[in-house]
Amino acid sequence: MSPRGYVVPVIITFTANPSLDRGAPLSGELRVGSLNRLGRVYSAAAGKGVVVSAAVHAAGHPTRAIVPVDAMDPLAEALRVRGVPSRMVPVGRRARTNLSITHPDGQITRFNEPGEPLTPENQTALVSALHATLPGAAWLALCGSLPPGTPDNWYVRLTDIARQVGVQVAVDAHGPALDSVVRAGARAPDVISPNVTELEQVTGRPIRTALEQGDLHQATAAALELRAHGITSVLATLGANGAILACDDGVWHAEADPVEMVSVVGAGDAALAGYLLACHAGHDPAARLRRAVAYGTACVTLPGSEVPTPGQAADVPVQVRQIA
Ligand SMILES: Nc1ncnc2c1ncn2[C@@H]1O[C@H](COP(=O)(O)OP(=O)(O)OP(=O)(O)O)[C@@H](O)[C@H]1O
Ligand SMILES: [Mg+2]
Repeated sequence: MSPRGYVVPVIITFTANPSLDRGAPLSGELRVGSLNRLGRVYSAAAGKGVVVSAAVHAAGHPTRAIVPVDAMDPLAEALRVRGVPSRMVPVGRRARTNLSITHPDGQITRFNEPGEPLTPENQTALVSALHATLPGAAWLALCGSLPPGTPDNWYVRLTDIARQVGVQVAVDAHGPALDSVVRAGARAPDVISPNVTELEQVTGRPIRTALEQGDLHQATAAALELRAHGITSVLATLGANGAILACDDGVWHAEADPVEMVSVVGAGDAALAGYLLACHAGHDPAARLRRAVAYGTACVTLPGSEVPTPGQAADVPVQVRQIA
């Protein structure tokens, strides 16, 4: 705590393209071109970094979610309701709304808006907020898609800023933002947390098909390939197949016992939060991976984008084994 009572966040998240998530169950099969009736609608502040910060906050650790959002935006109110400690940067534009429809069989259909462009002035304001928030932090998590108007290598530039003040960086991204991070060489982040789709995107490997046959080799090779690009630790999340951690000390796979799935929304973010919390606690790689999978698994048993408490995560039995 600083002399003025400001608690230095240990894990800072940066969500360039946050959203107000709205979701609802569909009472029957989807009828295209016809009226569909929804069950109870939930609405929550979201965007990947917001969810990571929510989990860190629930674990009792100081965090700050840097979010481009105006004070009067419904997302700002939702952030206050969710209780996520945030640094809201006014940008003069409305945050997007993302819609998730849960089908009777548990599958989720998502409708994501692209988000309004971030102007150069908006980007400068967000970077200023980052400079002001970083000193003293342990980790910066750069999370989610980049809105229109931002350079594809923005996460690489933000990684440079964090490095200059000794803050480690995790990136959870997809598309051109992920490609740029993977090609960044010495400017690469310390950790990335791709899911199966993202691993396939950057490596071109048929990971999903291999996993369906119980084969972890493609996912393992993909994680090692990414490490060869200069990324110290690759936390590859594999949905119901758990996760792989490839780092300097080796490669581990972790899997939980099957659970009753309620909502997969936020599982990847919860897994990253668990991983970073374990890093901050000084745990070894196997324990870091165990915590990540426990958080991800606990998250899928909770409704909407609700995040687990440390107790809920600790209740999940996880098997970890070294595979390389
Ligand atoms: N169906 C499932 N059953 C059990 N655990 C799951 C399931 N889906 C996800 N998990 C857990 O959550 C973690 C993250 O899930 P996943 O790989 O689907 O992330 P993601 O696709 O990045 O999710 P997000 O939508 O939050 O971005 C997994 O490593 C696993 O531990
Ligand atoms: Mg993800």
